[in-house]
Amino acid sequence: MSIKDKLDTANIPEHVAIIMDGNGRWAQQQGHVRLFGHATGVESVREALKAATEVKVKYLTLYAFSTENWNRPKEEVDGLMDLLVTTIANEIESLNENDVRLDAIGNTDELPEKCRQELKNAIDRTKKNKGTCLILALNYSSKYEIKSAIKKIAQKYKDGEIELDDISDQLVSDHLYTAGLPDPELMIRTSGELRISNFLLWQLAYSELHFTPIFWPDFKKEDFFQAIYDYQNRERRFGKVSEQLNDAQG
Ligand code: IPE
Ligand code: IPE
Ligand code: MG
Repeated sequence: MSIKDKLDTANIPEHVAIIMDGNGRWAQQQGHVRLFGHATGVESVREALKAATEVKVKYLTLYAFSTENWNRPKEEVDGLMDLLVTTIANEIESLNENDVRLDAIGNTDELPEKCRQELKNAIDRTKKNKGTCLILALNYSSKYEIKSAIKKIAQKYKDGEIELDDISDQLVSDHLYTAGLPDPELMIRTSGELRISNFLLWQLAYSELHFTPIFWPDFKKEDFFQAIYDYQNRERRFGKVSEQLNDAQG
């Protein structure tokens, strides 16, 4: 029996975010160059997306390239950008067949021209789809995102558009790349690293975190379902005590 059959369909997270990590180590362990790991990781993106679609996760955010990743050797950065361009172009048809809408967060204006074009084209050609929304975090930095939100809000205050007391959680959320999206209920990180690496710092405030030692190229649909299964067995207390949650009056 697949773990999928054990899932409570009434308790599927609306938004799942994934730090896809371990491509380089996976490749090197087998004597390949790191880029081979990235290329193989594309298959895991398909697996995760398929799994998300099957259980009707509404938003799937994948951390594909951080602002810090520009500091890698040029050959790897160039290879990743090329892979992005070819993958996005190749997947449009399949995204449309599966009713998947593509979107992106991050400072995408600073991506190479070819990437920006392919991304824009794919976002445009999938924008009417109503199924799962696949959000790629590209040239993404959570600190930059928060800093930009602070600047925009400060400007509005300066211009007299808002009062200090208008600065609420909601207002901050509305000024992030993820404005309008629910915060992820579940965040998965592969490869055994136990850190957030500048990903969705505000949005993950109350997310359940799932760390797995599996390297991203080995991550399959069953692993995605397993993460949701674990999530469903957590008690999300949001500061309360257990008894309150079990008590309808709580
Ligand atoms: C994740 O795999 C992909 C990107 C960051 C683009 P890594 O390339 O970080 O692989 P490891 O962590 O070095 O094994
Ligand atoms: C985080 O992975 C970024 C992405 C998955 C795109 P990294 O491999 O870059 O993270 P660190 O540097 O090990 O924290
Ligand atoms: Mg890594």
